[in-house]
Order: sequence, then C-alpha cells, then structure tokens
Amino acid sequence: MLSTQIANIKLDGYAFNASGINNEVLKQLEKIAQSDSAVVMFKSCSLEPRKGNPNPKYIVKSDLIPGCTFNSMGLPNKGIEANLEFIQELKKQTQKPICFSTVGLENPLQENLELVQKVQAQGLADLIEINLSCPNIEGEGILGYDFKSLKTMITELSQVQGSAKIGFKLPPYTDVTQFSQVAEILLNSKTSFITSINTLPGLVIDPKKASTVIKPKNGQGGLGGDFLKPLALYNVRQFYERLEGKISIIGVGGIKNGSDAFEFLLAGADSVQVGTGMAHEGLGVFEKIHTELSAILQENGFGSVGEAKGRLKFL
Ligand code: DHB
Repeated sequence: MLSTQIANIKLDGYAFNASGINNEVLKQLEKIAQSDSAVVMFKSCSLEPRKGNPNPKYIVKSDLIPGCTFNSMGLPNKGIEANLEFIQELKKQTQKPICFSTVGLENPLQENLELVQKVQAQGLADLIEINLSCPNIEGEGILGYDFKSLKTMITELSQVQGSAKIGFKLPPYTDVTQFSQVAEILLNSKTSFITSINTLPGLVIDPKKASTVIKPKNGQGGLGGDFLKPLALYNVRQFYERLEGKISIIGVGGIKNGSDAFEFLLAGADSVQVGTGMAHEGLGVFEKIHTELSAILQENGFGSVGEAKGRLKFL
C-alpha cells in the first residue's frame, strides 16, 4: 500500500531520512538501513573531509523554536573516499535504495561533477541528491537562488548518467515566478527528481541572554521542523503543478506523523523525507509515520499511495 517510486527506483515505504540528521558515518547509516526508512539517505559529501563549523552549531530542542531544529553545521562529512566505502558496506547489508548526496564548495559545478562521476563510476548508488541549498557556508549565498548558475548546474550535472538517478535539493522558494523559472530549467534537463525544501534561513535569539544561540555566522542558520510545513507544502504543490509528472518530487519540511505525510501526498509528493522528526523522536518515527499513513489512506478510501497522489480538494 505504501510502496512508491522516485524516477524508476522502487521504494517499499513512503518516508525516509532527510540528509544531515545522524547519517554522517557508517554506524548511523546502518541503523537507518535497519529502521523502517524506505531509503538510506546520506549526509551531503564533499571531495575532502570536513569538520564543519565551530560549536555550538545545532539546537535540537528549544522553547525558543517549538517543534523545530536550528543548525549551522557547515557540512561536516567524511569526504568522498570514505563515503564510497560506506556505500559498498551498506550494499552488503540492505536491499533498500541508497541515496547519495553531494555538495560543492569553492567551485560547486566542478566539484559536484567530480563527485557525481565518482559515484556513477562505482555504480552502486540508486539516487544522487545534489545539494544546491545549504545555507551555512560562511560568505557564500544559496546556489538555488542564483538562477543563472542554477541553470548551468542542473543542465550539466543531470547529464552525468549511470546507475544512479540524479536529483537536486532545492531551497524554499516563495514566489510564483521563481517556481516557473526553476521548473523550466528542470524540464529542459535530464533531472529525475527534486527534493523540496531545504532548511529555511533564520536567526534565533535568546532574549534572556540577549544573545544568539549558535556560534557560526553571528547566529544565523537553517530552521527545520514545524515552522516549515506550510511553506514546504506550498513548494511541493507549486512544483507538482509545473513538472507534468515528468520529474519525481520528494517533499520535506515538518513531517512528523502520518497525517503530515498524507498532506504532502495530497499536494503531490512521490515520497517524503523526515529530518527534525527523526532528530526529536529517533528512528521509530518511520514506522509510526507508515502505520498512521496506511490507516489514513484506508479511512479515505485510497488503496495505494499512487491513488492519493496530488488528489488535493479545493474549496
Ligand atoms: C548543512 C545544512 C543544510 O541545510 C544543508 O542542506 C546541507 C548542509 C550543514 O550546515 O551541514
């Protein structure tokens, strides 16, 4: 009932882990493989290993941002060579699709090209999510908002074909003209899927201390969780209306139960990722979401995810 597809890759469930939450090292990835997550999603990986930003850089729970997380991790990751070994190990342990994630820093196009070529040459990953939306690199803007370089990146990188289908993780957009421009770029490329949305840039202030709560970038970082859900649903729907069913949509932003997942399904998401929900509840969140979503589909007379996809009612 909950099986779905991203491009032509089959998933046994509707929900899986979002990049960046406890998925940086092999042990964590193995635990995700053993959970009810439908895919094993990797932390965004650069050519060289990175330590990330100085601490404190991650707020998991705070009354200042109920239901949310806030981070400026700065892309800590083990680098491409170690991550390729993680893929090899995981392939021995699980049949689940593996979604790799790449990120470029100083020269995003060249570095992503090199990363994607290495993953395709290895031939073991099923999906590659190219991150065009990290908000946390000092002195750098978010790639997904620079439409000129976005076009070059999406066009060139989607052409690196191989075992893995290529997709892009996009930042939150807020205006219809942005969706139209990005959709046109996507439809004129070989992109197989998009992941929408990444964290929302923000500044969290603790009034009791008259201070910021994280150290990097003078307290600015990316918000995830409850605050994001309406914005994420809006982004998913806007893309669903424009992508003509030709490009799969992975929805992400504030999903923590079956009802949230159902909302993304109605908006048109082929599957969903869970970030903050997993940070707050642990790996059990996937089984919970899947059990609840099955019941909701049944109550609404839907026999499968496919039957309900995009079937939002309007007043
Ligand atoms: C980081 C944060 C993100 O939102 C993202 O997409 C990638 C990386 C980080 O700071 O590590």
